[in-house]
Amino acid sequence: MIEVIELQVSLLEEVAAADSLDALEAVRVSAFGKKGRITEQMKSLSQLDGDLRKESGQALNLVKDAVLEAITARQADLNAAELEARLTHEIIDVTLPPRPRPDGRLHPVSQVTEECIAIFGEMGFTVAEGPDIEDDFHNFTALNIPPEHPARQMHDTFYLKGQDGGALSVLRTHTSPVQIRTMETSKPPIRVIAPGRTYRSDSDATHTPMFHQIEALVIDETTHMGHLKGCIIDFCRAFFDISDLPVRFRPSYFPFTEPSMEVDIGCSREGGELRIGNFGEGADNWLEIMGSGMVHPKVLEHGGIDSARYQGFAFGMGIDRIAMLKYGIPDLRTFFDADIRWIKHYGFVPLAVPSMVRGL
Ligand code: DAH
Repeated sequence: MIEVIELQVSLLEEVAAADSLDALEAVRVSAFGKKGRITEQMKSLSQLDGDLRKESGQALNLVKDAVLEAITARQADLNAAELEARLTHEIIDVTLPPRPRPDGRLHPVSQVTEECIAIFGEMGFTVAEGPDIEDDFHNFTALNIPPEHPARQMHDTFYLKGQDGGALSVLRTHTSPVQIRTMETSKPPIRVIAPGRTYRSDSDATHTPMFHQIEALVIDETTHMGHLKGCIIDFCRAFFDISDLPVRFRPSYFPFTEPSMEVDIGCSREGGELRIGNFGEGADNWLEIMGSGMVHPKVLEHGGIDSARYQGFAFGMGIDRIAMLKYGIPDLRTFFDADIRWIKHYGFVPLAVPSMVRGL
């Protein structure tokens, strides 16, 4: 019994003397660990008999409770002291000025590209890519524009020297070669859009040598012109956010589609100001925004797709142009001036990601 009381006294002294959580833990282990002083005493109880065992057991339990309680209390004290020390040490100066708000803006081309991806993504399209530097086959021949075809002149192509005396490369004049690249690498059903840079040797208020297009390609066994029309009409109305926007399909010609159509949307030119919307079907109330058509069987064959089994539609439009129309930007050249005042005015807050649910 004496021993037990002495053990209690010395353990309580050690607990009180522990000046850190680590030191306290060492005391705890020395009492309650595998070979701890209290543990050893507990073990030795089994050697006693009868009343002595009971008495000693009760006494030991009291010691155990007292020491545990002391450890818990000391732990709380040490924790509080540590917090106090950190609070005086780690000072936050709340009077400091806040961080400046980020000033960057997204370019309208990036914004409009994201908007298109959001709309077509909702319809089930995925994004496809192709290289800016193309070969003649993908940019022209595979799209049913053979070497002597007059459409080649219309494209104002930039030619690049072929490597190692090889064939000339071109800067792609449209995103349509991505149609061929997609056909080469995937099997129908195909449903892709391909936004990207395109190049033509041309420069005025509505043309820049580098500009952007977005291409769409759908191929399946029963894809027909009704699908083309539905897809384009839905896109135009969603993009311009005008539910009754008139959309007109006008017969046209592209070598890579048959039949081919140009797509016009409703507009008004009153007072010399161009506005998109439903202003009646007057002859002057139409604005061309894209080319479209059913993919020419020769193009399918060039892409390695069986034209007896598959058919599809495609369309392409200028991203910069629809950005100008939607956001009222008058001169295309300003898109590429890298003028900070312009981007502050026409740019978009980077975190306002366009989505069909939250709005474009
Ligand atoms: N590639 C054409 C151009 O740059 C646009 C175009 C027209 C794309 C008709 C198409 C299409 O996919 O079917 O003028």
